[in-house]
Amino acid sequence: MSSQSVNEWRILRDALVSSFASNGSESSDVAAEIALVTRYLEPTLQVPPIIPVSSGHGVTRYLDEVLASTETFAPAFAKALKPVAAALPWRYGYLPRDDAPGLESEMAWAELIGPVAPWRSDDVCLGLTLIGRNSFYPAHRHPAVELYTVVSGTAEWSLGNNAAWRPPGSRILHLSEAVHAMRTGDEPLLAIYSWTGDVISPSRYISEAAGGAPVFHSPEESLLGNSSPVLSSTG
Ligand SMILES: [Fe+2]
Repeated sequence: MSSQSVNEWRILRDALVSSFASNGSESSDVAAEIALVTRYLEPTLQVPPIIPVSSGHGVTRYLDEVLASTETFAPAFAKALKPVAAALPWRYGYLPRDDAPGLESEMAWAELIGPVAPWRSDDVCLGLTLIGRNSFYPAHRHPAVELYTVVSGTAEWSLGNNAAWRPPGSRILHLSEAVHAMRTGDEPLLAIYSWTGDVISPSRYISEAAGGAPVFHSPEESLLGNSSPVLSSTG
């Protein structure tokens, strides 16, 4: 049993939900997905959580750096995350890849709301993605519609043939079965994710041989040239 109190888990969940739903200059498709997720979340907020045993995943070695950065960009969220961060159910859900040894210790997800999460829902997932520095999350796809909100770390996000470096506060929407990938630079990435639609079927990697690998640019090209298109939901 975790030593964290139920109240600390609830404070983090509420911070996650409010950070996810906070208003910005959203595109209409992002705003519609936020509204859908918020509606699905409603029934889960009244029940007590089932607090899991800490997974002890290696990605937690990045938490101190991520929390320090989050205190700069989202201090209220950092305050809620800090007491529970290391105890979250961080996990890596793919099979190992021969072409990416060690990847399973460089990135993980901690789901707070979902089919097997502390707050149970079969309609929506809400959680955190944490990826270590200088890591590549290979191209993948899934039936669920996915919306990311970047909390900490500027990483390169690829959707189909478009790639762009996205800072904290960015929203990235992946429609069902859209092929996408992420690559971090010198700083780890922490992002809130949501899933709607088919939240049961897992994400699958796409092989380059299948022609599904997205395009990435060098950081210099993307930042200096400013030519990378902004990711949208149209991928
Ligand atoms: Fe995804």
